[in-house]
Amino acid sequence: MQATNLIDGRAIAAQIQAELAQRIAELKSRGIQPGLAFVRVGEDPASKVYVGRKEKVSAELGIYSETHVLPETTTESELLGLIAKLNADKRLHGILVQAPLPAHIRPAVVYSSVSPEKDVDGFHPLNLGKLMLGDPTGFEPCTPAGIRELLVRTGISTEGAHVVVLGRGNIVGKPLAAMLAQKARGANATVTICHSATRDIKAHCLRADILVAAIGVPLFVKADMVKPGAVVIDVGVNRVPDQTSPSGSKLVGDVDFAAVQPIAGKITPNPGGVGPMTIAMLMRNTVRAAESQAVQ
Ligand code: GUN
Repeated sequence: MQATNLIDGRAIAAQIQAELAQRIAELKSRGIQPGLAFVRVGEDPASKVYVGRKEKVSAELGIYSETHVLPETTTESELLGLIAKLNADKRLHGILVQAPLPAHIRPAVVYSSVSPEKDVDGFHPLNLGKLMLGDPTGFEPCTPAGIRELLVRTGISTEGAHVVVLGRGNIVGKPLAAMLAQKARGANATVTICHSATRDIKAHCLRADILVAAIGVPLFVKADMVKPGAVVIDVGVNRVPDQTSPSGSKLVGDVDFAAVQPIAGKITPNPGGVGPMTIAMLMRNTVRAAESQAVQ
């Protein structure tokens, strides 16, 4: 139907990056270059792509970055050893350990070992605790922060709105629900979290003014699950078989976009919706980390 109901994540991310470029120039005039370390363990194809995109945007903004690629067989204590070195490195203001980690490594142990001041991913328990408390001195996880920013900058009010979040993961669903339920600007919503044990998910979805799909099931949200005029945010990145593609597969979201777009009031394209915002929020957290570490 109309192309005008698209929420252009790429354009909004570019606007945020332009704002950050000014803050980075200001830091550089004081002799400070923001620095960010990426850590990737193993050869997960999606993680390679994500880290590659984050490196590219860092370079475009003049943020120093370095990437540490460790083999799949890396032990937890070897990974903790690297993180300890990165924590102590004054050149680095932010550290990002790309998820997912190999099964033998405990994510909670790893994310607790990143210095909270350098935790630009917002995965450390201290920063997640601050998020629950509504304490703005912490770092927020990038994907939920990017979704809130998309809503705010598109002029979609969450005030008193019913937001239904599909998915309760630690990276998106749980923190997003906590953020949008806060008594704060760009929040103040009534939030429902749905997950694999939810009965009659469709009935919940149909009550949503804003429906966020972060459930990891390809094309899960169909047209008959969306209230006409609702805002639909698709966080999903799912690889599915596709005989027509040379690679034999393609990426699809958690929303059946072609079916849902005509019904939605506004909707994120996928790609080009949430993904670029996650990266913009990572850059923003890194710039803030550099600014606050510079005054210590
Ligand atoms: N994997 C998927 N999303 C993210 C993210 O925001 N940060 C990290 N570190 N890994 C991820």
